[in-house]
Amino acid sequence: MKIDLQRRPRRLRQSPGVRDLVQETFVLKTDLIQPLFVIEGKSKRQPIESMPGIDALSIDLLVDECELLGNIGIRGVALFPRIDNRLKDERGTEALNPDSLILKAIRAIKKRVPSLILIADIALDPYTTHGHDGIFNKRQTDVDNDATVKILAQMATLHAKGGVDWVAPSDMMDGRVRAIRHSLDKEGHVDTCILAYSAKFASAYYSPFREAIGSNFHKKNSPLCKRTYQLNPGNRREALQEAVLDELEGADMLMVKPAGLYLDILREIRNNTHLPVAAYQVSGEYSQIYAASQNGWLDLTRCRDESLLAIKRAGADIILSYFAKQVALSLS
Ligand code: PBG
Repeated sequence: MKIDLQRRPRRLRQSPGVRDLVQETFVLKTDLIQPLFVIEGKSKRQPIESMPGIDALSIDLLVDECELLGNIGIRGVALFPRIDNRLKDERGTEALNPDSLILKAIRAIKKRVPSLILIADIALDPYTTHGHDGIFNKRQTDVDNDATVKILAQMATLHAKGGVDWVAPSDMMDGRVRAIRHSLDKEGHVDTCILAYSAKFASAYYSPFREAIGSNFHKKNSPLCKRTYQLNPGNRREALQEAVLDELEGADMLMVKPAGLYLDILREIRNNTHLPVAAYQVSGEYSQIYAASQNGWLDLTRCRDESLLAIKRAGADIILSYFAKQVALSLS
């Protein structure tokens, strides 16, 4: 005897066909951006231990990789340099070297794969001995916001001149989007986009990335603390406020980072702006899925796809993910 039910939602789940027809959210290749690490040298490939499948590449290999990514349908890459420790100093001087590793990489990629969108992080952490995103104030008690912003504005213009399509300030200093926009425009780079890391939380999930770029190399025992500039993971309203400010300051796109643990923030920012919203599935989110799957505890492909679908469903137009290449290949 069947129970008398007016609504039977399971009717729409009874076969793969109907499930496909009513699926609301899809992750597309065109949503994805692949982060890439670049190192000095020739034909060099340096595995990142905590990120299986991800290698830092010398420029020649990086250019080949970018060509492949373009061919499989990836539209953009975010580049991160792992520079020699000898080039680092307290003030991150190397960030303003017109012939730095990242600028050489940008020029080489643009030459071979001109249609690929190149994104450069604007922050000092790959360049400072202490691994902070800015320079310190006189008393060495904190990063000096305004002095750092001035350097970031110059850095952004230098990268735009080098050929990047988007600059992505990831430092969380106050007023940096406005300063960067002003500096870009003054130098005629009116078409360079700003992808603002608007809601970047002081997260424990960045440590594999810090291993990759060596920003924690002298801090083996105490984790690098960026809490005077990155957001408190407990603060939602403050994150929304940051997003509003970045929009007012001239950001073209807003980003939430990490992604998977901050889907509520992502959805709220999505609902409060008409700008495209990006989400960064960070290194630790990747490592976590990988480690569990290597233990046989989780299914890599299914967890990968579900994690990205959740980010898309929460409202991301653009997803930065170390899984981008794998996913694009699986969608081919
Ligand atoms: C630094 C920066 C970080 C990431 C991107 N840019 C780390 C940090 O703030 O220390 C993290 C990315 C990742 O974990 O994948 N400006």
